[in-house]
Amino acid sequence: MAKSVFISNVLPEEARRLVPREWAVEYNETDIPLSKAELIRRLQGKDGLVCHIISTIDEEVFAACSGLKVVANVAVGFNNIDVAAASRHGVVVTNTPDVLTETTADFAWTLLMAAARRVVEADRYARAGEWKAWKWDLLWGADVYGKPLGVMGFGRIGRAVARRASGFNMRVLYHDAVRADAGAERELGATFVAKERLLADADFVTLHTNLTAETRHLIDEVALKRMKKTAILVNAARGPIVDEAALVRALREGWIAGAGLDVFEEEPKIHPGLLPLQNVVLAPHIASASHDTRTGMAMLAVRNCIAVLEGKPPITPVR
Ligand code: GLV
Repeated sequence: MAKSVFISNVLPEEARRLVPREWAVEYNETDIPLSKAELIRRLQGKDGLVCHIISTIDEEVFAACSGLKVVANVAVGFNNIDVAAASRHGVVVTNTPDVLTETTADFAWTLLMAAARRVVEADRYARAGEWKAWKWDLLWGADVYGKPLGVMGFGRIGRAVARRASGFNMRVLYHDAVRADAGAERELGATFVAKERLLADADFVTLHTNLTAETRHLIDEVALKRMKKTAILVNAARGPIVDEAALVRALREGWIAGAGLDVFEEEPKIHPGLLPLQNVVLAPHIASASHDTRTGMAMLAVRNCIAVLEGKPPITPVR
């Protein structure tokens, strides 16, 4: 039987074309988040939803859209969806793991390197015409090679970040709620340590946990004060894992040396205290934003939606 799908924001045509022709597709081609009321209005009577992290799908939405069978999020993170409410209403939730792992790991490294070697400051300096002569002490940064790397959250992306560290001859320390098996530790040359030890020993701390009640403000004032004064924090996971106000104080007062951030507590707002600081590299949530990866995410989300509506198992359900 023909189905109906709502695609609540912009999605590449290649992905939209996967939907069987006889199905009805309502498409909002903008990237402006819909209000809750508008989202509900357009979702009512639909069987499936393909959405981005800018849509909050909560109890109110599920209660108002009783025919809904699947929510396919175009992201690996799914903190925008109340998964418990979805399961109460019998709605399958899917995400897009794997397709974005390597691209996101590349970007965590981009932030790490940019912050360590002060690339953004250097670019600003060069463009501003301030480079008048060779200077011995110009823009000294931190070495990356041979330094300990701390990976907080050792899932797919955390491991992909760790894998890249071998090229830099770094010792990898990791922490996660669940310890990896011995084979993975050996392959990645990674040592499981307590969170406190990771913070104290790593020169670079990179965050790759999901956002949950347990990980909200995992990096707070206490954690930041445990880090080395020379350390750099990287966050390409979710903003609220870091207490942004505490991070501003840490960067301003030199508790740590720098940070590279792709995510923020209240996106798209950035804590105003971060903006004037030179020792932080800021990016607008683009870690998975390569042509291939964003297209792959969209295709996977649509395939998940189709699978559920055709009565097949979802490809990548959220568990
Ligand atoms: C992006 O933030 C994602 O979760 O995929």
